Amino acid sequence: MPTTTIGVLTAGGDCPGLNAVIRAVAKPLLHEGFRVVGIEDGFRGLIEDRTRPLGVDEVSGILAQGGTILGSCNKSNPRRFATGLNPDGSPRIEDVTGRCVATAERHGIDALIVIGGDGSMSCACELREGFAARGRELRLVGVPKTIDNDLWGTEVTFGFQTAVATAAGALDRVRTTAESHHRAMVVEVMGRNAGWIALHAGLAGGAEVILIPEIPFDLDVVARVVKERAGRGRRYSMIGVSEGARPIGGAKIVAKVDPTSPDPIRLGGVGKFVADEIERRSGVESRYVVLGHLQRGGTPEAFDRVLATAFGHHAAGLVASGRWGRVAVMSGGRVTDIPIEDTASRQRLVPIDDPTIAAARAVYTSFGVA
Ligand code: F6P
Repeated sequence: MPTTTIGVLTAGGDCPGLNAVIRAVAKPLLHEGFRVVGIEDGFRGLIEDRTRPLGVDEVSGILAQGGTILGSCNKSNPRRFATGLNPDGSPRIEDVTGRCVATAERHGIDALIVIGGDGSMSCACELREGFAARGRELRLVGVPKTIDNDLWGTEVTFGFQTAVATAAGALDRVRTTAESHHRAMVVEVMGRNAGWIALHAGLAGGAEVILIPEIPFDLDVVARVVKERAGRGRRYSMIGVSEGARPIGGAKIVAKVDPTSPDPIRLGGVGKFVADEIERRSGVESRYVVLGHLQRGGTPEAFDRVLATAFGHHAAGLVASGRWGRVAVMSGGRVTDIPIEDTASRQRLVPIDDPTIAAARAVYTSFGVA
């Protein structure tokens, strides 16, 4: 086999387990005689020609390391890249596919492994079209990543279990101070438009109320749960809230809009809103904590290391057998693959009939609805 060069990049928000994937794709490919090139900071590295060779030494000893040795970026779609500012101060957006083609040609990159979420898969598909428009082929293989667990087509993504463990641990800690001060404590977790982290962490952390985007909540019901508990001598309550949760008839709370990002909306602030409303409506003193990027950092849990390695191994197999345009996924408890375009810009939300919701309700967890 003539030496073939495979580019690897990690794009979008980072998550625990990315390095385990890089290791799991690189080692078998190197063993099979491929050259592996790491592209720095997601698609930005392809645009700015920042690459480095990945040999066995570079990918050894990184299994348990959080973050990504390659760096990542969640605002570098080559088809709509912010190259500077317009005279009115708005970002100047350009198609810089040509720069990516040049980088790929300069380094002889024959195929790209994209480790990313739905936005990154969408960028990859758009870039493939941009290559095709220039008469070039961009061979792609995808590996799904996100703490949000919301990638369409896979039952689970690596990073999720670690984020849930962090959030559940935070609920355990916050509970003792809630108990001491007889307060309602609201813990805001990440997850974008999906409530997976709040649901699983809330259940694991024994939250009395779990608020997720898929079930708009009634603040009077939430306040009533807190008040009734106080009336029964349970003088504290724990409320887990997903950043994308919203009251019935209300809108999600947006913390920031970043026009240079493929997914410009950054959610945040619902924790404070809910805590203030609980205090106002129930008279029970309330506080909130926003876990934020704590959930994305640190060492991956064992489950995520195993899943990341299994996905990486599968992706390497797709490359070795020339099965392009596929993403490794978990389906029916087995690692398999689906077309990359199926995962692009599609999110897997929590189904209302999810068994975890039923289990939570069975132990008297409220979802903030009557
Ligand atoms: O998609 C992962 C995620 O952590 C979301 O849960 C969160 O909404 C978003 O990324 C935060 O993005 P940033 O790192 O740009 O603040």
